[in-house]
Amino acid sequence: MLLDVKNLAVSYGKNQSPTIQGVNFKLDEGKILAIVGESGSGKTTVIRAILNVLPGGGHVSEGEIIFEGKNLCTLDEKSWRSIRGKDMSMIFQDSGAMMNPIHTIGKQFIEYIQTHSDLNKQAAYEKAIEKLTLMNLPNPENILKSYTFELSGGMRQRVGIAMAITFQPKLLLADEPTSALDVTTQAQIVGELMFITRGTGAAMIIVTHNLGVASYLSDDLIVMSQGKVVESGATVDVIKNPQHEYTKSLLSSVPEMDRCRYV
Ligand SMILES: Nc1ncnc2c1ncn2[C@@H]1O[C@H](COP(=O)(O)OP(=O)(O)OP(=O)(O)O)[C@@H](O)[C@H]1O
Ligand SMILES: [Mg+2]
Repeated sequence: MLLDVKNLAVSYGKNQSPTIQGVNFKLDEGKILAIVGESGSGKTTVIRAILNVLPGGGHVSEGEIIFEGKNLCTLDEKSWRSIRGKDMSMIFQDSGAMMNPIHTIGKQFIEYIQTHSDLNKQAAYEKAIEKLTLMNLPNPENILKSYTFELSGGMRQRVGIAMAITFQPKLLLADEPTSALDVTTQAQIVGELMFITRGTGAAMIIVTHNLGVASYLSDDLIVMSQGKVVESGATVDVIKNPQHEYTKSLLSSVPEMDRCRYV
């Protein structure tokens, strides 16, 4: 087992009641878990807690996060530096917004590689080209010379994913990685995420509002509501036999074709 989240609770601020509570799930190597749920239900909080990047006084107030047998909640910042960006990395909703607009993509990509490894500049450059090529980005040399605003949303997102997979992480955390994209580009990126995870053996947790995306990609599915997991299991089972009202309403909003629902 790669990741075991046990009875996790997170609070923002000292005396706040927990924002998420009693969250339990397990993830095996190479598997994809999708988290769905209404806005504010705590999906982002879960994946930020795993990567130990909770904002604004957010902290784990209960439970354990076990990654490869280690309890992440007890690690010091030095140990985190060797995990974050290497064993575990994050894909954001809009990778372009996470990058600095006044520096080229190449400068930032190469710096990122050099902070996490001993590679010299040339080797880092070659690694960046290799990863961009893997993400089907044409002319990767030109991409490295570009600024984020010069690329389309889909290309920026491919750059973000290329960076996230640089060190062949064992776990990818993706927070609505396709929500900012048009439908056609969404489908392409979803296909590429599938290709990358299946190809490299990385496990992934993907937060998405799109049940179609979740059912296409994921092995297991978690449904959250008001900070709690209200439904979980193998994706096919949850979709075939939804128990919770929120899951039912999500399913009923997926359009039917020929009286079948293609989720
Ligand atoms: N920085 C913060 N400071 C204080 N409270 C926060 C902070 N971030 C989130 N919260 C609280 O946690 C709750 C859950 O937020 P979270 O971002 O995890 O939800 P989400 O399921 O990802 O929602 P969305 O689908 O809109 O992205 C929020 O309603 C808010 O009360
Ligand atoms: Mg969120």
